[in-house]
Amino acid sequence: MHVLITGGTGLIGQRLCEALIARGDAVTVLSRRPHQVPQICGPQVKAIAHIDQIAEYDFDAVINLAGAPIVDAAWTETRKKELLASRVSLTRNLVEQLLRKARGPKVFISGSAIGYYGNSNAVELSEATPSGNDFSAQLCRDWEAEAMRYADQAQQQGQDVRVVLLRTGLVLDPRGGVLKKMLLPFRLGLGGKLGHGRQWMSWIHHVDYLQAVLRLLDDEACSGPYNLVAPQPVSNATFTQCLAQVLRRPAIFSTPAFVLNSLLGERAVLLLEGAHIVPSKLLALRFRFQFQDLNSALTQIIHAE
Ligand SMILES: NC(=O)c1ccc[n+]([C@@H]2O[C@H](COP(=O)([O-])OP(=O)(O)OC[C@H]3O[C@@H](n4cnc5c(N)ncnc54)[C@H](OP(=O)(O)O)[C@@H]3O)[C@@H](O)[C@H]2O)c1
Repeated sequence: MHVLITGGTGLIGQRLCEALIARGDAVTVLSRRPHQVPQICGPQVKAIAHIDQIAEYDFDAVINLAGAPIVDAAWTETRKKELLASRVSLTRNLVEQLLRKARGPKVFISGSAIGYYGNSNAVELSEATPSGNDFSAQLCRDWEAEAMRYADQAQQQGQDVRVVLLRTGLVLDPRGGVLKKMLLPFRLGLGGKLGHGRQWMSWIHHVDYLQAVLRLLDDEACSGPYNLVAPQPVSNATFTQCLAQVLRRPAIFSTPAFVLNSLLGERAVLLLEGAHIVPSKLLALRFRFQFQDLNSALTQIIHAE
C-alpha cells in the first residue's frame, strides 16, 4: 500500500518508515525539510513539502504524527498556539485536502497522547474515560476532534474512511524521547525520582508501539481511540529504581517538585503528574505485547544499544 506520513522524520515516524519499507509498502513523508527526508527516513521514501501536493498522489493510508515538541520550550501563550497549530490546524488542513480527492485513503491514523486524560490519580483509565481539563488534555481533544471530523465528512461525501486515534504513552526508545533524556544523568549516577515519585508513568517499548500501529493500520475492524501503553504502568519511583538497576548505577538523588516547577513552569506537570492508563482496546484485540513489564523493556533497550 502507499502510505503518507506527516511527522515521518520524527522519532516514531522514522521507525514507522523503516518498518513499512521493509514489508514492501511505498511511503511518502510530508515534511518542512523535504530534502532531508531520504537521509532521515531512507532512500526509498518520497518527500512532499506542501499539503496541496497531496492532490498529485493516491494514498491507501495516512498516518498523521506531525507536531511541535511538547517539552522543549516553555508553555508561553505563543508556544501554546504553536503546539496547537502544528497539530490541530495541520490536521484540519490535511483533512480538507483529503476530502477534495476523488479517491481518499481507506484508513486515517492520527496522533494523540495519554495527555488526553489529564492528570489523575484515579484507578485505571481506559479509552472510555472522559478527557481531562489541563492544556495537554485540551490539545489532544482538539487534535482528535479534527481527525474524527474526517470520518463524518467523508461519509457525507459517500466515502468510507476508518479513523484511528493513537493515545500514545511514553515511548521508550534509546534514539530519543524521554528515555534518551534520562540516560545520561542516570549513567552518571545522578538520576533520581521526581517530586514525591508516586505519579504514574504509562510507558510502552518502541517495538510494541510499532507493532501496535501496524496492527491498527491493517486490521479493518479497528477504529476510534486506542491507548498505546504497556499493560503494567509504574510509579516514577519504581521507574527510577528499575532504570538505575538495569544500568547498575545508584539513584539516590531526588528532584523536589518546587525545583521542577520553578525551572519548567506549567510544563512541570508532564514530570510531576501522570495517570494509570490501561490499553483496554489493544488487550481486547489480544494484541501480544513483547514487553509487558518495565524491567524486560529497559533490559532489552539498554543491552541492545
Ligand atoms: N515520543 C513519545 O513518547 C510521544 C508520546 C506521546 C505523544 N507523542 C506524539 O506523537 C507524535 C510523534 O512523536 P515523535 O516523538 O516522533 O515526535 P518528534 O520526534 O518530535 O517528531 C515530530 C515531527 O513533527 C514535525 N514537526 C515538528 N514541529 C513542527 C511544527 N511546528 N509544525 C509542523 N510539523 C512539525 C517534524 O517533522 P518535519 O521537521 O519533517 O516537518 C518532526 O519530525 C508527536 O505529535 C507527539 O506529540 C509522542
